[in-house]
Amino acid sequence: MSLSLFLLLLSLCNIAAVSAVSPPFRPVFYSDTCPSAELTVRHVINRAMAREPRSVASVMRLQFHDCFVNGCDASLLLDDTPNMLGEKLALSNINSLRSYEVIDEAKDALEQICPGIVSCADIIVMAARDAVVLSGGPYWEVKLGRKDSLTASQEDSDNIMPSPRANATSLISLFQKFNLSIKDLVALSGSHSIGKARCFSIVFRLYNQSGTGRPDPALDPKFRVKLDKLCPLGGDGNVTGDLDATPEVFDNQYFKDLVRGRGFLNSDQDLFTDAKTREYVRVFSGNQSEFFKAFVDGMIRMGDLDSGRPGEIRRNCRLVNSRPVEILLED
Ligand code: HEM
Ligand SMILES: *[C@@H]1O[C@H](CO)[C@@H](O)[C@H](O)[C@H]1NC(C)=O
Ligand SMILES: *[C@@H]1O[C@H](CO)[C@@H](O)[C@H](O)[C@H]1NC(C)=O
Ligand SMILES: *[C@@H]1O[C@H](CO)[C@@H](O)[C@H](O)[C@H]1NC(C)=O
Ligand SMILES: *[C@@H]1O[C@H](CO)[C@@H](O)[C@H](O)[C@H]1NC(C)=O
Ligand SMILES: *[C@@H]1O[C@H](CO)[C@@H](O)[C@H](O)[C@H]1NC(C)=O
Repeated sequence: MSLSLFLLLLSLCNIAAVSAVSPPFRPVFYSDTCPSAELTVRHVINRAMAREPRSVASVMRLQFHDCFVNGCDASLLLDDTPNMLGEKLALSNINSLRSYEVIDEAKDALEQICPGIVSCADIIVMAARDAVVLSGGPYWEVKLGRKDSLTASQEDSDNIMPSPRANATSLISLFQKFNLSIKDLVALSGSHSIGKARCFSIVFRLYNQSGTGRPDPALDPKFRVKLDKLCPLGGDGNVTGDLDATPEVFDNQYFKDLVRGRGFLNSDQDLFTDAKTREYVRVFSGNQSEFFKAFVDGMIRMGDLDSGRPGEIRRNCRLVNSRPVEILLED
């Protein structure tokens, strides 16, 4: 089969083909082939956190941006090539996703102890779980056995990933496309309990919400004064602010902030403005165990997203393994 026909076939599999039912991902996948896989990833995430606390939030975010675009297949990690525009420079990712080097470090460590065994896609999922645990959040058993994609699509990422301007209505329908419920949406948004975002992502709501020339009325006025100082009109869009009041601790502070009009992103605050999502915000703000339970359910469901496309175990998370196309097709 020619390369162009192969690529054509790949492009015919659109996002509708993503399914959460096919893969039998399971917890013990590497227990024979690489028993210390999870421990190895945990050590790397631990070291990353000691170096820079934010990096674990950045790593956790990778699961969302990977799994929503053609399944959890580490497509996100592929660098651009002359023949392929990957996802790293997609609208939601450029100048924003970070800490790819932490995944590289975990991959290097795993290639030392069990070469060719652990997929980059599984590393992302393990690392995201560890990031949550090491930040004070819940532990859960991750399902493993994913393959790494042979390609990536900047266009698919551009078409799928939500903007910080998104409202709850559009987020509900996006999540619905992946069989994720309204409760999943609100719980998974609670990942913004850790990490930071850029002024670029909020200046519109500070100065010109929905083209009104006015700030977002849902913003607590005191909080708005603080954000105006951090992000003056015409200022540096790369300056960052905390996504909640305790950005290094995975807790339900994010939801308490939303109730008080102190959500950082429009997509955050609108979860409290909109009656369809407000009750979940209230429940999670009042009961951290309810949040943790729903968050774990959501992460597992999101981690089940699979494109059903052929895959491989990459040796380097940034590059597809080099071998003839004909062999790839026999997988
Ligand atoms: C519900 C829709 C979501 C929207 C619209 C959204 C949007 C964003 C935006 C705009 C940023 C900051 C980007 C920047 O300014 O550079 C961000 C950061 C972040 N997002 Fe989301 N996000 C969503 C859901 C999620 C989910 C489901 C997860 C993970 C499970 C997640 C994890 C994170 C984390 C941890 C950060 C901070 C990253 C860092 O500090 O580097 N987000 N998100
Ligand atoms: C959602 O569930 C339906 C019905 O069970 C299934 O046909 C579809 O493939 C699922 N979609 C995703 C993205 O998992
Ligand atoms: C939500 O956003 C969508 C897409 O931008 C827009 O068409 C819709 O009017 C908005 N809905 C509400 C309730 O603001
Ligand atoms: C606010 O946004 C609207 C619509 O996008 C635009 O026409 C207007 O010029 C903007 N106003 C300012 C002050 O930037
Ligand atoms: C942020 O920094 C990057 C890299 O230095 C630059 O290309 C980009 O334009 C900046 N973005 C904003 C919103 O200022
Ligand atoms: C919080 O939720 C947990 C788990 O669902 C439940 O067992 C507990 O009773 C709730 N606590 C309160 C104070 O409602």
